[in-house]
Amino acid sequence: MNDLDPLSGRHLLVEQVRLEAAGVVSLTLVDPDGAELPPWAPGAHIDLFLPSGTVRQYSLCGPPDDRRSYTVAVLREEHGRGGSAEVHDTALVGRLLQVRGPRNHFALVGAPHYLFLAGGIGVTPILAMVRQAAADGASWELYYGGRSRAGMAFTKTLSAVDAGRVHIVPQDEQGMLPVAALVGAAPPGTAVYCCGPEGMVQAVTEACARARPVTLHVERFGAPPGGGSADARSPSPGAGHFTVELRRSGLTLDVPPERTLLDVVREAAPDVAFSCEEGYCGSCETKVLAGVPEHHDTVLSDEERERGDTMMICVGRSASELLTLDL
Ligand code: FES
Repeated sequence: MNDLDPLSGRHLLVEQVRLEAAGVVSLTLVDPDGAELPPWAPGAHIDLFLPSGTVRQYSLCGPPDDRRSYTVAVLREEHGRGGSAEVHDTALVGRLLQVRGPRNHFALVGAPHYLFLAGGIGVTPILAMVRQAAADGASWELYYGGRSRAGMAFTKTLSAVDAGRVHIVPQDEQGMLPVAALVGAAPPGTAVYCCGPEGMVQAVTEACARARPVTLHVERFGAPPGGGSADARSPSPGAGHFTVELRRSGLTLDVPPERTLLDVVREAAPDVAFSCEEGYCGSCETKVLAGVPEHHDTVLSDEERERGDTMMICVGRSASELLTLDL
């Protein structure tokens, strides 16, 4: 499912930058030689290496059957870490940007009904999902909230998919999305897909915990409250010393308790990809060849954690004395 080689990637040409809504631009990326791009499924994202070297993750939001181009959309975040401002303020058309992926930790699973809940720029992966659900003849509803209609991207595209199932809810006209009521009214077995700001994700998570059996699938823009290791698997205090073997580099390195695995790996492999360093973006995902990874991220599913063949090395450590990575 995933392209996990952190050192690999391809250079794609920025063919078009388009204003989609107030503060939101879309980028269309194509192979410079016109080659087909790797296939992807709704929920997938790519790592985009910006001209400054900053790496950011963006959900693919074009039609999944378009093998010629990838489309991503970027909201200008006034108080962000600088990646979105760089996208908005740099003349990118005609430039080659390194791209890694696509990878997918937010895939559509089979379900009798889908409730899609999107907040703001969180609509990007949901747009691809809605297209897929409509093409499959699935039962679904989308509720899309945003501060104001002018800042909500892709409203026309979404309504064109199926105006009867798409509910656009600008906060200044209709108030906040009533997520608790929407989840509470969902039929049993509904797959709830939510992507939006942390407050919305929290509200949906709490509503799903109270509701009759529904499954919840979320994608976050940031670390949950309390930090990137906010689940019960947060690092144990004084988490111990272990050894990491970088199989392809032929190196064996010590990881002391006070250093992260990513820090140590970067000394030997400075090009290793990473971004958030808090375990939520998936950029540093690395294949585990041997040993028992100790997960502290919010990206992997329980099943993926159980399998133990991949990990986020920015927050993950090792439960075994030796951990062997595909680096
Ligand atoms: S750098 Fe974001 S999950 Fe590791």
